[in-house]
Amino acid sequence: MTTRLLFVCLGNICRSPSAENIMNHLIAQRQLGNRVVCDSAGTASYHVGSCPDRRMTQAAKAKGIDLVGQARQFNVVDFDRFDYILAMDRQNYRDILALDPAGQHADKVRLMCDFCRTHPDREVPDPYYGGPEGFTYVIELLLDACEGFLDHILEHPVATSR
Ligand code: 4NP
Repeated sequence: MTTRLLFVCLGNICRSPSAENIMNHLIAQRQLGNRVVCDSAGTASYHVGSCPDRRMTQAAKAKGIDLVGQARQFNVVDFDRFDYILAMDRQNYRDILALDPAGQHADKVRLMCDFCRTHPDREVPDPYYGGPEGFTYVIELLLDACEGFLDHILEHPVATSR
């Protein structure tokens, strides 16, 4: 049984690829590769095809995590393909739910920071227009949220998992 996770931000070059690669790092550490599969997407199309942002890649590398992947835009078919859709901020959350007007998939859509255990933040801040410390903070926050989320999905396997 595999649980499928999709991490979503605006551009899919900073926060959501970090969440995807951090989660893959934790999955490898815990040897859970056959149980959890990750992907990421952006609500916007500006950066489709781009690699993760260089500043974000540097901040992740400093914590021993390589960022790989190419940006893509969120698509309504993702509602069926994934068990959980994790929004980085409230705007991402609203933009995703706007693509599901009947609310059929609303239960799958969650805020990433709901799973933080040590950080009080409610959203993953957008680091794009700020300095390097913002990128480092995003990695630390996502490590906390991903640890909490991985424990959550292991404790609460979803009925729809394949
Ligand atoms: P992300 O960050 O949503 O975490 O990938 C951003 C990337 C690009 C832009 C904004 C945020 N942008 O305005 O191009």
